[in-house]
Amino acid sequence: RDQLSITMVCLGNICRSPLAEGIFNAKIKGLGLEKKIKSDSAGTSDFHIGELPDERTIRCATKNKITIHHRGRQVHRTDFREFNYILAMDEQNLKNLIQLKEKTPYQNTNVHLMRNFAAGGTGLPVPDPYYGGEKEFEEVYQILDEALDGFLSHLKGEHPHLFE
Ligand code: 4NP
Repeated sequence: RDQLSITMVCLGNICRSPLAEGIFNAKIKGLGLEKKIKSDSAGTSDFHIGELPDERTIRCATKNKITIHHRGRQVHRTDFREFNYILAMDEQNLKNLIQLKEKTPYQNTNVHLMRNFAAGGTGLPVPDPYYGGEKEFEEVYQILDEALDGFLSHLKGEHPHLFE
């Protein structure tokens, strides 16, 4: 395989997961791997389909020199065919994803909790910042930045040829 695709999943697809998508795409671009590794995001809910990310997400991203090109979408069973990895922000998202995956013939997708890739973060959620403010969004940014570095190392271990 010479291409990998990853989608990040939260509840609304306007706060955590589009930020994760933006951060990860910036890291991939920094490594010159944007032709080989693609990232996207989705929500388990249908609350914000078609919407731009929350303005607090955009503000937090901009402050950290991240641009996000995304419209809200709901996770779909075909995502288990389209994506090699699906990263869930918390246990509820993970549970919903595993339930959905079981109803599909696409059993090869790797579904993981985002923070399992961060040192010391195993089992922890990326906290929902929806009812928070700038401080909570910045906290989410730092958590995602670290977890996504860990995830990149994981990918490098699993798919070394992509990084050569
Ligand atoms: P997200 O945050 O799951 O990180 O996008 C939320 C966005 C919207 C809602 C909840 C969480 N909501 O209830 O509409």
